[in-house]
Amino acid sequence: MSEFSGKVALVTGGAKGQGRNHALALAEAGARVGIVDVCRQFDSCAPMGTEEDLRTTEAMLKERGAECFAMVGDTRSSSDMRRFVDTARERWGSVDVFVANAGVAAFGPVAEMTDDMWDDVVGANLTGVATSIRAVVPVMKEQRSGRIIATSSSVAREGGPNNANYAASKWGVIGFVKSLAIELAPLGVTVNALAPMSVSTDMCHNDKTYRLFRPDLADPTEDDVRDTFASLNPMRVPWLELEDVTAGLHYLASESGRYVTGASLDIAGGWNAYHSA
Ligand SMILES: NC(=O)c1ccc[n+]([C@@H]2O[C@H](COP(=O)([O-])OP(=O)(O)OC[C@H]3O[C@@H](n4cnc5c(N)ncnc54)[C@H](O)[C@@H]3O)[C@@H](O)[C@H]2O)c1
Repeated sequence: MSEFSGKVALVTGGAKGQGRNHALALAEAGARVGIVDVCRQFDSCAPMGTEEDLRTTEAMLKERGAECFAMVGDTRSSSDMRRFVDTARERWGSVDVFVANAGVAAFGPVAEMTDDMWDDVVGANLTGVATSIRAVVPVMKEQRSGRIIATSSSVAREGGPNNANYAASKWGVIGFVKSLAIELAPLGVTVNALAPMSVSTDMCHNDKTYRLFRPDLADPTEDDVRDTFASLNPMRVPWLELEDVTAGLHYLASESGRYVTGASLDIAGGWNAYHSA
């Protein structure tokens, strides 16, 4: 029997990128999986998922034989998130693993930051994480079991140029996770953050980000930015592959992680060793 057989896992931001990979891995391990994605581009942000992406993930879940559903919804909306959680509960009776993965990025110096760049990033990355998790907390409290995993980032616990909105939102995720972990620990519900460094998804690989990393070039390519990305961590890895992050998720969601709560799991080639917090 697979490790998550009979378990119910929900993943936000499941249309593509890390959310898709987490959903597929949980399905391959036997879970029933629900995914949600806003499927709409926020103008200020790096390329986001589409409804076609969402349906592709759903088809990939079905190919793996998983019981699943996919819905369009915004993690910032409590009614969308209640609908997401209620759908799982009505179909399958419980929610065992909740992955608050959805997020966006819009990088730039504070002096040039528009209201949208602030609102979109803090809205999706912090309010969206909190709103989606708040929808599942009553279910897990009643069950007296559950695993909540939110995606933060290596850039949460440090400052950096062009990063104020993103770092503030991701630091906020760690504060939220730690506080909720203490509230839910007596019930056996764990709450943790994943803190990956750059991951090989559209959020990392896009023209705007490449230009920030190589302002000396008019039209930098992946090869042009590789060394600059790699210089951020002592292992000199430019970016993680999806499976590197999903391995961390798997640990936090699995039986092995049952006594891990309030943690922020760095998957970062040692980038985290530079942090003082
Ligand atoms: N890629 C990186 O370098 C990197 C590094 C560290 C952390 N992260 C974080 O990992 C998570 C996943 O990002 P990714 O790399 O897979 O990027 P991605 O852009 O490929 O996927 C993110 C998905 O989240 C969805 N989304 C965004 N806001 C939403 C909202 N309000 N409601 C519902 N869905 C929403 C998007 O449409 C998209 O499909 C994010 O929280 C991101 O901040 C990314």
